[in-house]
Amino acid sequence: MEEFSQKFLSNKSKQNLFLVEQNIEAPLVDALEKNLLNPPIQFHIPGHTKGSGLLNRFKKLLEKGALLDNTDEFNSFGTLHPATGPVKKAQELMAQALNAKNSYFLLNGSSIGNFAIALTCLKPNSNVIIGRNCHRSVITGLIMTGANPIWINPQKHEDWSIWGEISPYVIEKELKKNPTTSMVWITSPTYEGVVSDIRAIAEICKKHNVILAVDEAHGALWNFSDKMPTSALQLGADVVVHSMHKTGGSFSQSSILSISHSSKISEKIIENNLRLLHTTSPSVTLLASLDAARAYLQSIEGKENIEKAIQFANYIKNELKNFPKVLVLTEQDGFKLDPARVYIMIKNLCGRRIENILKTDYNIEIEASTDNGILILSNIGSNFDDVKILVNAIKDIASQNYADISHLENYKFMPLLNPEIKISPKEAFYKGFEIIETNKAVGKISADLIAECPPGIFVLTPGEIIKKEHLPYLVNYKTLKVVKED
Ligand SMILES: Cc1ncc(COP(=O)(O)O)c(C=O)c1O
Repeated sequence: MEEFSQKFLSNKSKQNLFLVEQNIEAPLVDALEKNLLNPPIQFHIPGHTKGSGLLNRFKKLLEKGALLDNTDEFNSFGTLHPATGPVKKAQELMAQALNAKNSYFLLNGSSIGNFAIALTCLKPNSNVIIGRNCHRSVITGLIMTGANPIWINPQKHEDWSIWGEISPYVIEKELKKNPTTSMVWITSPTYEGVVSDIRAIAEICKKHNVILAVDEAHGALWNFSDKMPTSALQLGADVVVHSMHKTGGSFSQSSILSISHSSKISEKIIENNLRLLHTTSPSVTLLASLDAARAYLQSIEGKENIEKAIQFANYIKNELKNFPKVLVLTEQDGFKLDPARVYIMIKNLCGRRIENILKTDYNIEIEASTDNGILILSNIGSNFDDVKILVNAIKDIASQNYADISHLENYKFMPLLNPEIKISPKEAFYKGFEIIETNKAVGKISADLIAECPPGIFVLTPGEIIKKEHLPYLVNYKTLKVVKED
């Protein structure tokens, strides 16, 4: 054995390891290296913003690099399923911080939280009332379970090209029309930060004895500051997901699923379903990043940084709201908004064009664009120098004569359409599909879920009729998957 290892080492040492590595392709590693050389100014997820909004102890640990890479089970970390040891304790501390009955750490983001909600609360042919602006993971939940969506539209704001709040009145109307509904499933806040009246919706759901699930993916900071809107966990929802990695400062793909103290959902069943869905090799670093984010947001620095994020957002809004050609979404427009998200439009420029100019001419990256506007995240890791650069860049863009030919492209981005459902998502998924040219697909049933990320809000779900109105959203699709005809 010793002989072998010596031979092995001596063989290796004959080579110049560095040169050997240079000859092997690693494109993603290249991209990471390049990104570090010229990092863009960041107003998007993840909210820790290159480590500025991280617990110092955790940041120090991260300097150890690969030494941190562990899965649960070994080295006394405890296990994720069932939750034991430090993992269990960290989840309990998270539940306390969120004032939840139970919180569960998620890998694979809030997406897996939505899958688990579906598996736990829905059955084949269950009726579920869902806001049309839900994330694509909700549709996956429908495909997995065979439940039938009853779609409700939030308010539409075509002028801003965003979805608004979900009306409690509309929910009540649908519940009366569909008395066998098992669950109401809504997204609040919306991607652009519009908050729905969850208290009123929860009361209606209680009256009709149905579960209320709230996708609060974008509200991960809310339980950590009284300057933020109140979380659905405190307003009567049964189950809530938070993408802690988006704004809460944990690492990408780490999220939380929580059930409230008043929840009708069995924790045993939800735990079991999470176990069915999760990897059996959870990354301890990702789990620890959730623990670190919770601790940071409870610390003085973390709390100050939430306040700063709100102040920076207010600064951006105040600087821009009276600037020629710029329009800023504010509560005066009749919306209740997350105070750390900023949505703006520049007259005569579509959202994608503004996003592209910011990236190419100013090296600034924002969270997302819609047909008309852009979404800027002011994060716990943001700093004032960057905020001033962003404001100046937007003023600059609004003052110049940038051209925008997007009106010639007949290309739309933020779907605000009414669906016509032919068969359930599960039936469409399993019926088999054929691929046809997009312009020949009108009138056929979609077999595919078409939703660009961000925001992951769909144009078509499996089982819906493809119509002419969809075509401007499908410009980048030469072909579509349609359900095979019998
Ligand atoms: C409303 C909403 N829910 C769920 C998700 C999925 O979250 P994750 O990326 O954490 O899986 C997203 C992602 O953008 C989202 O916008």
